[in-house]
Amino acid sequence: MAPSRAVYTTVRAALRHSVSLSSPYLHHRRLISAYGYEQAKVLALSSLGEPKDVLHLHSHSIAPPHSDLLTLRFLASPINPADINQIQGVYPTRLAFGTSLGTTEPIAVGGNEGVAEVIAKGGGVQGLEKGDWVIMKNQGFGTWRTHAQTKAEEVVLVKGEDREGLRPEQVGTVSVNPMTAWRMLRDFVSLKEGEWFVQNGANSGVGRAAIQLGKLWGYKSLNILRKRESGMEELKADLTSLGADAVVTDEEFEAKDFRDRVKELTNGGREPIRLGLNCVGGPLVGSMAKHLAAGAHVVTYGAMSKKPVKLPTGLLIFKDIHFDGFWVSKWSDANPGEKETCIKEVLKLTREGNFKDVPMSPVTWNHDTKQDELVSAVQGTLEGFRSGKGIFVFGNT
Ligand SMILES: NC(=O)c1ccc[n+]([C@@H]2O[C@H](COP(=O)([O-])OP(=O)(O)OC[C@H]3O[C@@H](n4cnc5c(N)ncnc54)[C@H](OP(=O)(O)O)[C@@H]3O)[C@@H](O)[C@H]2O)c1
Repeated sequence: MAPSRAVYTTVRAALRHSVSLSSPYLHHRRLISAYGYEQAKVLALSSLGEPKDVLHLHSHSIAPPHSDLLTLRFLASPINPADINQIQGVYPTRLAFGTSLGTTEPIAVGGNEGVAEVIAKGGGVQGLEKGDWVIMKNQGFGTWRTHAQTKAEEVVLVKGEDREGLRPEQVGTVSVNPMTAWRMLRDFVSLKEGEWFVQNGANSGVGRAAIQLGKLWGYKSLNILRKRESGMEELKADLTSLGADAVVTDEEFEAKDFRDRVKELTNGGREPIRLGLNCVGGPLVGSMAKHLAAGAHVVTYGAMSKKPVKLPTGLLIFKDIHFDGFWVSKWSDANPGEKETCIKEVLKLTREGNFKDVPMSPVTWNHDTKQDELVSAVQGTLEGFRSGKGIFVFGNT
């Protein structure tokens, strides 16, 4: 239900005399009109391409919610590699372009993951109150925005007791990477305590989650990192502190004598490696598979090197190694109940200090933050050897 032109004019005038309200959660200042209209900004695109070429800030107003609608104020929204692929148009889930945010040409809002606070609700909304924190039920929400209005059925409540003591950055990054690690460790092979999994991209968000969950469940992890010019030992120590049993560079892993190291680690094969996790691709995957026990599985969930996986056929014929893929979006859509259980459990582990979130590079998004700052944070996600995951943290929006 779009407001009339006269209402827009009144709202614009009212917004010039905005008042600030205080939040019990973040002590932020909110710009809100005398008529209850929220002034929102979104990081949007009208055509697919490189983020730096296509992303722009768009402002619009949000009317007070009615019936089953909620008005949300975003708290934290990460910038995940898949978000970039979506903007580039090379991801299976397409962005939803439309004109509902008052533009003449269709636009889409970037971002799929995040946490928001309910700031107003329509009369028909049950089970959600002002001040509640919610995460998105499905991919494709468009989370790089200060505010949104949506149907209550599109979000999942993060109960007060589940989020107690946690920062928005921790809650806003729980539904993709930890979930992916969880399912891959559990759904392809029943690893026994003391058995191993091997993974590349071990310092990624998923990799870090896999190390920690694996440790909690009694699995040992052999972790492969891309060799870097500096900070290698620090990174190895960082993953070891998360619970990694062995951390090596790709160069060390590919060395001829690494077979001896595997023998030593696996107690002569008595504690076999029965699972491989791959987010890199390329020849490294074939090398990983060579160290696996017969009948093991390699689960591919990313392709960061953009190189195809090459395999010696003997591994398929004589060792019966299985190659699988995992996509959390598909799994989450098919298993909404289990998704909620996993989220609750990871938040509990985080609260108890048994699960550390990834290193982050927060980008504060205030009402007056410039477009260039936001866009370059998104573009920067494509660079390797990063010190932390980019995440928009919303301030006095
Ligand atoms: N299938 C699914 O359901 C699912 C779910 C979540 C994530 N993913 C995918 O998993 C991957 C990791 O996601 P994330 O959020 O965990 O990422 P992240 O925290 O941003 O980490 C990126 C990882 O990729 C590595 N990397 C970057 N460029 C590389 C290159 N050219 N060659 C080799 N490695 C490279 C990085 O290593 P350096 O530090 O050495 O650069 C780092 O380990 C992405 O491909 C993402 O799309 C898939």
